[in-house]
Amino acid sequence: MKVLVVGSGGREHALAWKFARDPEVQEVFAAPGSAGIARVARCMSVGVGDISGLAGLADEIGVDLTMVGPEAPLADGIVDEFRANGLAVFGPGANGAQLESSKAFSKDLLVEAGVPTADYRELSDPAEAQAYARELGFPCVVKADGLAAGKGVVICADEDEADAAIDDMLVGRRFGEAGARIVVEEFLVGEEASFMALTDGETSLCLAASQDHKAIFDGDRGPNTGGMGAYSPAPVVDEAMTEQVRTRVIEPTVEALRRRGIDYCGVLYAGLMIQKGEAKVLEYNVRFGDPECQALMMRMDGSLAAAAKACIERKLHKTKVAWTADTSVCVVMASEGYPGDYPKGVPINGIEEADALDGVEVFHAGTARDEQGRWLTAGGRVLGVTARGKDMRAALDRAYEAVGKISWKGAHVRRDIGHRALG
Ligand code: AMP
Ligand code: GLY
Repeated sequence: MKVLVVGSGGREHALAWKFARDPEVQEVFAAPGSAGIARVARCMSVGVGDISGLAGLADEIGVDLTMVGPEAPLADGIVDEFRANGLAVFGPGANGAQLESSKAFSKDLLVEAGVPTADYRELSDPAEAQAYARELGFPCVVKADGLAAGKGVVICADEDEADAAIDDMLVGRRFGEAGARIVVEEFLVGEEASFMALTDGETSLCLAASQDHKAIFDGDRGPNTGGMGAYSPAPVVDEAMTEQVRTRVIEPTVEALRRRGIDYCGVLYAGLMIQKGEAKVLEYNVRFGDPECQALMMRMDGSLAAAAKACIERKLHKTKVAWTADTSVCVVMASEGYPGDYPKGVPINGIEEADALDGVEVFHAGTARDEQGRWLTAGGRVLGVTARGKDMRAALDRAYEAVGKISWKGAHVRRDIGHRALG
């Protein structure tokens, strides 16, 4: 197979890396890819926003499988365009991608499917929203309906914070049209986990569970980021919990999508809150998590390309995915200031030394190379230093040993990735 990966981040590097080692895959392309991804794939300079350009590229190269990394092109209909051109593509169409691109759509579907989730209301009137927040009590959660780059969720401790968040979205239009409707919902407590499944619209295949760390600082303090680290497996998702999520979350959701006439192929990612042995869905995503994907790819045995192809051909029931018994962990190294403003172009040392360690892969999320071949920072999240080991302790020791070999001025790393799984 010839495979094309759409995207340029750490998740897409991990996917391209996995394809490059896949016995079913002869050639890996990435669009646009990155200097880091160029080590495992041929990068083609077509951006993720250029959907017709990407379809043209896939056609021209004759790819057998396109794997779409990020949510934005999915929400914008890249899969519909590829399908219309007879191109094999892994991911949901724009109607299915609403599970991520509209919180109101997603909550409505969860209720219809009978999947446990926080009580909520969808609102566009500020006074009604403020009244409902008071009815729920505090803390409560205010969410912009549309895609807001992970910044559209505000946990409100009291009336003042709720009123401000509601005002900011509905009146100030802080997120533009994405915040013209909001969801106000009940605050859930418990332990979070990331649960991903592949689906062909009929059958679903649960992947190993993982956990990410959204806050910027140790101890889960500070503002939320795209994810500062991840690990797999997640001890909170044991066999019984996997079964519960499969039967009460994933399968009813796939069934509800089908009843609505939505032909959903791709990754269904449920963000879970688990308390006292019960899982509720916080949100759906319609693609692999980043950085959860980096941790998963390090543990996945067998062919990702074959599994993705089986989804497209609706033959997922014939497919199995195996996982090594190892634990894997991804530690993100970020630029100083992230998730706020950060400098770019800072020279990075030690990537090659870290990569050379046994059981370690350094996935590039935001790097560039200058004419002399030196690595420079080029994003907020810069590297996902990923390691596997026989258990969490071993995987963490390796990952942090690798992190210790990499340096640049102002690099920021959380030191407590995986702490919940150590106890
Ligand atoms: P979301 O984008 O909906 O996953 O929200 C981002 C983060 O906000 C989640 O990972 C949770 O940490 C937190 N969050 C979202 N909804 C809730 C909720 N109902 N209760 C508690 N925390 C929440
Ligand atoms: N790491 C969370 C996400 O990919 O949405």
